[in-house]
Amino acid sequence: MGPQGQRAPRRWCVRGANRVRRRERLEALDQIADEVRDCTGCRLHEGRTRAVPGEGDPDTEVVFVGEGPGMNEDREGRPFVGRAGGLLVGLLGSIGWLREDVFITNVVKCRPPDNRDPQPDEIAACAPFLQRQLAVLDPAVVVTLGRYSMATFMPGARIGQVHGTTRPVDPQTGARDALVFAMYHPAAALRTASIERESFEDIARVPSVLVQARELREGHGGAAGPAPAPTEARSAAPAPAAPATAPDPEAAASSPAFVPADPAADDASQLTLF
Ligand code: URA
Repeated sequence: MGPQGQRAPRRWCVRGANRVRRRERLEALDQIADEVRDCTGCRLHEGRTRAVPGEGDPDTEVVFVGEGPGMNEDREGRPFVGRAGGLLVGLLGSIGWLREDVFITNVVKCRPPDNRDPQPDEIAACAPFLQRQLAVLDPAVVVTLGRYSMATFMPGARIGQVHGTTRPVDPQTGARDALVFAMYHPAAALRTASIERESFEDIARVPSVLVQARELREGHGGAAGPAPAPTEARSAAPAPAAPATAPDPEAAASSPAFVPADPAADDASQLTLF
């Protein structure tokens, strides 16, 4: 539930061409996940219980990229299921989104021993998986969680300076027409109250970044699909998924809380941040 007690508005019925695209995306993501689970490309495979390929809505417009699995993720084979995951769910909830509405993955897909930082050769060995996931998902926004994820998309940046800001993503990352938005890692927010506060402030900007990214993509030839996409009237928090075909009127009717997006109606103070 969002701050207004509403679900994040993302679920349009998947029909026609979009159903095919969704199935193709799912199959491609499953194929990548199978390869991740079989991967012996770096030393991290030796200590893993389960690899953690990532999970989420294949039709999402927003991908969250963390650093690497911890103990709980290694046990379950799913990203962000421990305490940091709890905070991530809380952050998403503060803008009315659910974790199922987005795609969540990591820079490295196997747990670094003792939760140490991933090493450059491990990140490099795993990079093609993230690149392929991004190519399949074609997100409008990539949200980085933590320094190592940020470094993949904003090389040379410092998290203390760039958190809460956005810039275009280098298409070589796999995301061919996206904005990246940097955030602190939720684990850092769990340790430090001021970082937790800043993280809630940062994530509150993500819906505006999504609006901006959609507009940029439309300007670049409509890669984001037809506008307007559904959004939430009162929170001005756009859905993290846009239909690739015309919205299904039945689905719209079954979601009375949701109205078509009007980016111009978005919170002007948020939009001017970018
Ligand atoms: N921290 C991460 O960076 N990723 C996870 O999946 C869990 C914790």
